[in-house]
Amino acid sequence: MNRKAHKNKLVKSIFDLTNKVAVITGGTGVLGNSAALSLAEVGVKLVLLTTNKKNGVELEKTILKKGGEISLLEANVLSKISMEEVRDAVLEKFGRLDILLNIAGGNMPGATIGPDQTIFDLELDDFDKVTQLNLNGTVIPSLVFGKVMANQGSGAIINYSSMAVPRVLTRVAGYSASKAAMENFTKWMAVEMATKFSDKIRVNALAPGFFIGNQNRSLLLNEDGTYTERGADIIRNTPMGRFGEPDELNGALHFLCSDASKFMTGAVIPIDGGFNIFSGV
Ligand SMILES: NC(=O)c1ccc[n+]([C@@H]2O[C@H](COP(=O)([O-])OP(=O)(O)OC[C@H]3O[C@@H](n4cnc5c(N)ncnc54)[C@H](O)[C@@H]3O)[C@@H](O)[C@H]2O)c1
Repeated sequence: MNRKAHKNKLVKSIFDLTNKVAVITGGTGVLGNSAALSLAEVGVKLVLLTTNKKNGVELEKTILKKGGEISLLEANVLSKISMEEVRDAVLEKFGRLDILLNIAGGNMPGATIGPDQTIFDLELDDFDKVTQLNLNGTVIPSLVFGKVMANQGSGAIINYSSMAVPRVLTRVAGYSASKAAMENFTKWMAVEMATKFSDKIRVNALAPGFFIGNQNRSLLLNEDGTYTERGADIIRNTPMGRFGEPDELNGALHFLCSDASKFMTGAVIPIDGGFNIFSGV
């Protein structure tokens, strides 16, 4: 083997994810879809969770056509019983679990402060629901699948946080508070797993900036594709001057899933075109 080929082999091996088994929550959403495709392409065996199987049929077909392996299951991240059913199915089929991506999450209208409202108009029921989804919706799968990892002594959990944690984004009060709690849980669980179970169990997070998804499209873009006022404000505060493309998260995702990051735990990686470090001036 010449030097260059040898070097390439080394570079590949630390990111190698061939035959790893991954559970992905929110797998049929915009970012989940992109993560699933990208992991399937490098040989990860996927168990994709969705609230409605119909939303995953096209993705399933695409992955199978490319020779990938995928099981599409309906499940609710807010139900421990539902997660345990998935765990049993995963263990029966594969006997192990290497990766958990907690991507299910999002915002709710009542937990958002409208343009003519103030914090005192916050609907507490909706604040609760958004907290359930973004915090408990990561905690419950992490407990159920994290225990599998604790028993086998290895695994990587990757949570999807948000720029709403390090920077105050106006209006999205409930979403911000719940993602902040989820980031804290990421760090807490990272310590727990490393100190009580194994240094081979890692818990990290990605903090995406702004990617056009189903939930934020009308907030950021007008029907003719131009920016809304909020969209333009975000672009002005993003040094790269654009929204992200979903596949731009996947490099960091592969890094966190693989041995390339084997001494990293409790970290939160911003992928935001520079939004987080920019003063706006
Ligand atoms: N798009 C962005 O710009 C952006 C930015 C920062 C963070 N995020 C976070 O990334 C994640 C994915 O975002 P997205 O834009 O792909 O959103 P999306 O709405 O396209 O996907 C979210 C997925 O979560 C699923 N989900 C909701 N409730 C569920 C439940 N109870 N059980 C199981 N699944 C459930 C939905 O069905 C959907 O498939 C979210 O956690 C979001 O908060 C997104």
